[in-house]
Amino acid sequence: GLPQRVTVYEVGPRDGLQAEADIIPAAVKAELCRRLFAAGTRNLEITSFVPPAWIPQLADAAEVVASVDVPAGARSVALVPNLKGLQRAIDSGIREVAVVVSATESFAKANLNNTRAGAIDRATEVIAAATADGIPVRGYVSMAFGDPWEGQVDTDVVVETASVLHQAGCRTVALGDTIGVATPGLTTRVVEQTLAAGVPVGSIALHLHDTYGQSLANVHAALRLGIAEFDASVGGLGRCPYAKGATGNLATEDLVWMLHGLGIKTGLDLTALAATTLWLSRVRGVKAPSNVAAALAAA
Ligand code: HMG
Ligand code: MG
Repeated sequence: GLPQRVTVYEVGPRDGLQAEADIIPAAVKAELCRRLFAAGTRNLEITSFVPPAWIPQLADAAEVVASVDVPAGARSVALVPNLKGLQRAIDSGIREVAVVVSATESFAKANLNNTRAGAIDRATEVIAAATADGIPVRGYVSMAFGDPWEGQVDTDVVVETASVLHQAGCRTVALGDTIGVATPGLTTRVVEQTLAAGVPVGSIALHLHDTYGQSLANVHAALRLGIAEFDASVGGLGRCPYAKGATGNLATEDLVWMLHGLGIKTGLDLTALAATTLWLSRVRGVKAPSNVAAALAAA
């Protein structure tokens, strides 16, 4: 059967807001995080500590972290691209980080200004330093299902990259469909091969963007293989500014609607999530892409 409980890893404040054109004040970001925690979020990627020249939208990372109280039992994770980012995160009070590598050379260059192998070396350095400090690390493999410059991505390379992150000490490896091109058959193959390579089922997450509308079908395919952690973004915000064609993440409301419909527990309050999306849409004057959030707002 399917898992009875799923970890929803909320990336809205980081992946969601990193590429939105409007400058969102730190106080609004902090309020978003508070509302997410109040809606039951226990796994939050709150921001990233990257050079402001790369992601101006998240230049206020330390201010946001300082303004949000993390409830007992909840995680507040920051994405860091290098040791400098790790240090900035630790200085701000962060106690868990995420690193990102790429399954392709093109995206390693575009997103990390590095080669594929160089980015893995840099991530490994961060994992070692963080782990030595008692800081758990989550690892992303980007372009794990397709790449806008290179097209199909070699599954063997994806699996090898995921294994390297796992062996280097990442507690969870998130397979990233950065541009949302995966379909259920490919999702099944990539997850099966990652499992076969020795990455335990409890250490694999899926990070899906919904560009082609396939995310929920892909979640279902992964659930059938026992995967029980999925990334999502409240309202469906998000894309990657360094990946041409990437749109929003799978919306948290859409994911939770499906999971609850399957009888799978998430600990999340769907009404409160949709209210959060409605609140943010009003504050920003921008409509959110989530189908379920729109349906609940109209109901
Ligand atoms: P670089 O320009 O080669 O970096 O970027 P550098 O080491 O040459 O440093 C350049 C300048 O930045 C220096 O300052 C550094 O000190 C400074 P200067 O000497 O010129 O004054 N610097 C920093 N400042 C603040 N915080 C830091 C930091 N590091 C250096 N951490 C780098 C290389 C890896 C840093 C850059 O390419 C980078 O940050 N890339 C990440 C961009 C990003 O955030 N992309 C979006 C997140 S990934 C994503 O969305 C995909 C994901 O969702 C999964 C999926 O969808 O598949 C995770
Ligand atoms: Mg992403």
